[in-house]
Amino acid sequence: MGMRIYNFNAGPAALPLPVLEEIQAEFLDFKGSGMSITEVSHRSKWFDDVMEDAIERTKRLLHLGDKFEVLFIQGGASLQFCMVPMNLSLEGRPVVYINTGTWSTKAIKEAKIQGKEVRVLASSEDQNFSYIPSGFEIDQTEAYVHFTSNNTIKGTQWSTFPEAGNVPLVCDMSSDIMSRPFDASPFGLIYAGAQKNIGPSGTALVIIRKDMLERTPSHLPTMLKYTTFSEKNSMFNTPSCFVIYAISLVLKWIDETIGGLEKMADINAKIRTQGLLTQPHKMAVDSHLIDFGKRRCCLSFQRSKLREAIADCISDFLGCFRNENTPFAGNTQFENQVLIPARHMKIPQKRMPISPHELISSVNDVMNASIIK
Ligand SMILES: Cc1ncc(COP(=O)(O)O)c(C=O)c1O
Repeated sequence: MGMRIYNFNAGPAALPLPVLEEIQAEFLDFKGSGMSITEVSHRSKWFDDVMEDAIERTKRLLHLGDKFEVLFIQGGASLQFCMVPMNLSLEGRPVVYINTGTWSTKAIKEAKIQGKEVRVLASSEDQNFSYIPSGFEIDQTEAYVHFTSNNTIKGTQWSTFPEAGNVPLVCDMSSDIMSRPFDASPFGLIYAGAQKNIGPSGTALVIIRKDMLERTPSHLPTMLKYTTFSEKNSMFNTPSCFVIYAISLVLKWIDETIGGLEKMADINAKIRTQGLLTQPHKMAVDSHLIDFGKRRCCLSFQRSKLREAIADCISDFLGCFRNENTPFAGNTQFENQVLIPARHMKIPQKRMPISPHELISSVNDVMNASIIK
C-alpha cells in the first residue's frame, strides 16, 4: 500500500485502518457466502447478523438498556433535521432549540419550514457561535429541546448537557458520538450522520426512546415515520447494507480494541491534560472548514481526516503513546479542536489533499512555536 492520504476537505472522515483491512479481507467472500456484503440480500441471515451486531454494540457502548431503539435511516443527519419536528412535535407545545452554530441553525430552519412553533431558547449567534450558552431555563410544557452536542464547524462542544427535567432532549451528536460516555436517560432521541464518527456516509444512526415513537403522526409519508423503521428493524426498504456493516466493525473496534467509551474518554482526557488544548475559546472549527481565504486553518482533532497525521505530530510533541492500535487512527476520537492561523502553517494555500508528512511538519512547526498555549 502506498502512503495513506488524508482528505483535507469536507466529506467523510477517516476510518480506523484495522477496520478497512477487515473489510478488505472479507470483501469478496462475506462470511463464506461467496458474495460481497454489497451483494448479499438484506433479508438474509448474513445481513441479519450484521444489523443485530450494529444495534447491540451501539446499545452496549452507550449503556442504552431496553428503553431505546436503534435505527438506521438514510438521508444523513440533515434528514433528521426534518424528521425530528415532523415526528416529535406536539399540538400546542413549542419545539425548542438551542442555537450553537451552523448545524443547529439548519435544524431550526427545517422545523420552521414545517410551520412548527419554534422557540429558540438560547443562542450564541451574537458572538459568532464561539461559546455554549448557559443560564437558560427549560419550560416544562415544551415538546422537546434540541441541541447539537459538538458544533463541527464552530468548534464548541457541550461538556455537560442541558438540564431539561421531564422535557426530552433531542441531540445531533454527529461529530462526537462514541467519543465519550454519557447518560442517555434524559434523551428522547439522538441522531448522528454516520460518516463523521462511526462509518462511511449513507445512513444516520438514530437512537429513539420507545415512548417517543407514540408521537409519530399517522398521516406522515411512510418513509418519514420513525415507526416505519422501528417496526421493520430499519429494513422496511433496502437499508445501506455496506454502511451498516462498516459501522458494526467500527463499533467492534471501539469496543474490543479501544475497550469502550470510558477508555476513549480517558484517551481524550490524556490529550487534554497534556496542556495542549487548554483554552476552550481557542477551540475551533472542523478541518473541513479550513478557510485559507481568511488565513486560518482549523484542525479538528475530533473528526479530522488528518487525525492520524496529527496524532503522529502530537505524539512527537508530547512524547506520548502511540502504537499499532493507536486510538488516534480512529474515526472519532478527539473532543478537542484547535485553531491554528494559516499564516503559521507552511501548507500551500488551496492545495489538497496534502500529504501527512507535510502536515506533520507544518503542525509541528506551529506547536514548536508555541502558538497553542
Ligand atoms: C454536527 C453535524 N450535524 C449534521 C451534519 C450534516 O450531516 P449529513 O451530511 O449526514 O446530513 C454535520 C456534517 O458535517 C455535522 O457535523
